[in-house]
Amino acid sequence: MIKTDAADPLALDPAELRSVLGHFCTGVTVITAHDGDQPHGFACQSFVSLSLDPPYVSFCPARTSTSWPRLRDAGDLCINVLAHDQGELCRGFSVSGADKFAGVDWAPGANGAPAVNGVIARVEATVEHEHDAGDHTIVIARVTRLEALRDERPLLFYKGKFGSFAD
Ligand SMILES: Cc1cc2nc3c(=O)[nH]c(=O)nc-3n(C[C@H](O)[C@H](O)[C@H](O)COP(=O)(O)O)c2cc1C
Repeated sequence: MIKTDAADPLALDPAELRSVLGHFCTGVTVITAHDGDQPHGFACQSFVSLSLDPPYVSFCPARTSTSWPRLRDAGDLCINVLAHDQGELCRGFSVSGADKFAGVDWAPGANGAPAVNGVIARVEATVEHEHDAGDHTIVIARVTRLEALRDERPLLFYKGKFGSFAD
């Protein structure tokens, strides 16, 4: 049950909020861009397919993300959809300030954004809209190119842990 603050019954306990919402299972992506000098990227579970016409996808970077402003300035993104065996790679892309691309096998995609090797699908997109949403930003990006790659199980994120489908 969600606990509320007695002084303010509408105030939710952030830990409880995080814990209960963690019951919603998602896939995991690494969203990348290249600023001409160096690659940038971050692990992102809030990615979602949004619209077919026009072709939009969406995701929500935190306001604290240091990568997001660089991705936004680059404009052209690659959303790398991770496979079940890319949990460690994902963890590397979740550490702020780390050299996230060290040891990662990647190459520039058609739009220049880093395409990570071993993923199950890639979506290239261009940032079109941003909306403030509390401590996050809702980004809407137009799909310019996409491809399915490995016929493999996806990486899943559920209750703070990685997993995958059983065979
Ligand atoms: C499985 C997983 C999913 C994540 N999903 C998001 C997300 O949807 N939005 C977000 O802002 N951060 C998300 N993060 C955290 C970011 O990856 C992390 O805060 C970011 O890499 C910080 O680095 P930066 O300062 O370079 O942006 C996620 C982390 C993990 C491990």
